[in-house]
Amino acid sequence: MSPSLTPLFVNFCLLCAMTLASDPDPVQDYCIPNPKLGAIKTPLHTFLPCKNSSEATTDDFVFSGMKVAGNFTDTGLAAISVNPTIFPGINTLGMSFVRADLYVGGINPPHFHPRATEISHIVQGSVYSGFVDSTNRVFARVIEQGEVMVFPRGLVHFQMNVGKKPATIFGSFNSQNPGMQKIPSAIFGSGINDELLEKAFGLSSKQIGTMRRRFDPKRVRF
Ligand SMILES: *[C@@H]1O[C@H](CO)[C@@H](O)[C@H](O)[C@H]1NC(C)=O
Ligand SMILES: *[C@@H]1O[C@H](CO)[C@@H](O)[C@H](O)[C@H]1NC(C)=O
Repeated sequence: MSPSLTPLFVNFCLLCAMTLASDPDPVQDYCIPNPKLGAIKTPLHTFLPCKNSSEATTDDFVFSGMKVAGNFTDTGLAAISVNPTIFPGINTLGMSFVRADLYVGGINPPHFHPRATEISHIVQGSVYSGFVDSTNRVFARVIEQGEVMVFPRGLVHFQMNVGKKPATIFGSFNSQNPGMQKIPSAIFGSGINDELLEKAFGLSSKQIGTMRRRFDPKRVRF
């Protein structure tokens, strides 16, 4: 590359990194974070310094913390989100996963992941699953054991166990830090101005109060 083109190329690539904003490509085989060293922050990412690879062990690459369901919320969902904090072996590999269990009738409320597409595999059960695209078109149906549904990145999606037994779902993400916003909590549990919510949803101040108490982050676990 000619020297005069270099700054242009560098700027262009910074722009790609910002607009595509996917996880960065790894520059080594793996990077088991060294808990003794603090995080390194750059304008775009936060990195955890790696252990010397000679100290990595097989156990660093095995996760055993989701053999059984996690703790259930009031909506009948138990989710164990597996990210580099609890499974250091996946650090820098651009992926993460979740085990979700649903009681009969339990729901995973509408939510989205700002940084990842999700593949959702029904390990056991019958689960009404779906997402809404940016034109508000819904794509949803019951998916059965062994079937897989994809939830495109950033789109609102939801699940409900419509079978007669508990359901187990394995979800995987193409980011090590997909992020999650649950719609009910983001709207009613975050402290947005009451008047704005009344106007936005056509609800009375009493009804807004009911919703606020229901999604109060200090009171319930949704
Ligand atoms: C990693 O460990 C090996 C073996 O102990 C050592 O030779 C090497 O210098 C270490 N590398 C770093 C970057 O500390
Ligand atoms: C479930 O709750 C218990 C008690 O609060 C806690 O110790 C445990 O880590 C929780 N399990 C999961 C998977 O979050």
